[in-house]
Amino acid sequence: MAIPFISHRYIILLLIFLSCMQAYEQNNPTIVMIGSGYVGLVSGPGLAEIGNKVICADVDTHKIAMLEQGKLPIYEPGLEKVIAQNVAAEKLSFTADVGKAIEKANVVFIAVGTPMGEDGSADLSYVKAVAELIAQHITSYKVICTKSTVPVGTGAWIRSLLESHGVKPELFDIVSNPEFLREGSAVDDFLKPDRVVIGTETDKAREIMYNIYKPMFDAGAPYIFTTVPSSEMIKYASNGFLAVKISYINEIANLCDATGADVKTVSKAMGLDKRICPYFLNPGPGFGGSCFPKDSQALMYASEKYQVPLEVVKASLATNALQKKVPFKKLCALMHKDLQGKTIAILGLAYKGNTDDIRYSPSINVIKELLESGAQIKTFDPQAMENMKAIFSPYTHAITYCTDAYTACTGADAVMIMTEWNEFKILDLCKIASLVNNKILVDARNIIDIKELKKLGFAFDAIGRSCMCA
Ligand code: UDX
Repeated sequence: MAIPFISHRYIILLLIFLSCMQAYEQNNPTIVMIGSGYVGLVSGPGLAEIGNKVICADVDTHKIAMLEQGKLPIYEPGLEKVIAQNVAAEKLSFTADVGKAIEKANVVFIAVGTPMGEDGSADLSYVKAVAELIAQHITSYKVICTKSTVPVGTGAWIRSLLESHGVKPELFDIVSNPEFLREGSAVDDFLKPDRVVIGTETDKAREIMYNIYKPMFDAGAPYIFTTVPSSEMIKYASNGFLAVKISYINEIANLCDATGADVKTVSKAMGLDKRICPYFLNPGPGFGGSCFPKDSQALMYASEKYQVPLEVVKASLATNALQKKVPFKKLCALMHKDLQGKTIAILGLAYKGNTDDIRYSPSINVIKELLESGAQIKTFDPQAMENMKAIFSPYTHAITYCTDAYTACTGADAVMIMTEWNEFKILDLCKIASLVNNKILVDARNIIDIKELKKLGFAFDAIGRSCMCA
């Protein structure tokens, strides 16, 4: 039967409309960021801030309800403002209906946790669950992008998972777009990145990703397009190296203590060499957080799996384990190991300043050793106390969580500074001297003025300052 002429015109109009729609979606994709944790809850609003339409999705209905009320489930400076602005501009929304958000999205970012498994490997169970949900809800072409830190080869694994669930290969592209966000400065790190790394399989996906980040690229942000495996490797190689750098300066600090050198000066002079650079050369109680320990262990797992030695990464982990014992060792030296029944003030519980995160925090190691020594603990941290209470809930009899640093120091037989919160950098040491029972202090972050401590008659030590003054 001949098709009437009029319908020819409609078919042509429909084809033009569909190609315009496709072009529009390619240039203005709807993004879903799956996982509203430290990574997704910064990356999603960050993408909205540069002009994209973003849905932040999470299965945790409580977390989503908090976000819809304008409350944050995590502490991250500046994040509340970015979220509020983009929600008001209707560029950002939240949902617990992840499946529906996937159906609406053209680009699906996977930003769920990849915690360290028992054997050191990255636990990809959450990534797998998201991939299976995508398989159930994918009805049109989508870019599927891993934002989470995932082992090299995960992109290929997600592809095989989707195809094994019957998803046609041409219905999606796999992309890797790792985050390089430091907790406490994550918003800034997202909006002003040192570089954006994007691994793609096809030019189509590359163009879509380019358009998502285009405002940032136009503003001068450096970027690298590469393959998916290389992008996955860049993340691990970067974090592994930063962890090595920290372990290196921690070892040099310990040698400074033994030889009378001052690591602050050593580190400063090292950093003036552009090849070394001044950053990540601050010695401390060892690195913590959700990334360096996990990513270094994941590299060691890959070393075992592929039988490729990674001796430098291995050593950085061993060094870090030893470094976490250094603050307690210094306290024992100052107190002549007489800790039974003594009260120790711990200032700082978060694994670093400007975060509420206590994962792998060196303070956990110190608290455990103090409890084993029969000491009583008084502690204060501006943000991380609730998280630490959950870890040491059976020890409420031995740990007092105080409202401020001075209350924690009142009556203390020694003070330990474990986190470099700004407010600890400006503590009134005269007041501390009048409040403590004994003037003994361990500064595990090298933030206290040594001259001031000496003047006030403190017995103190720090990290690599050669200042063990009993
Ligand atoms: C890190 C990476 O920096 C970031 O790129 C990645 O995306 C996530 O992991 P984060 O763990 O949030 O970020 O904090 P970071 O500032 O890197 O510190 C990590 C650990 O190293 C902390 O325990 C910190 O106290 C320690 N550190 C850092 C040092 O001991 N000395 C330094 O000079 C810097």
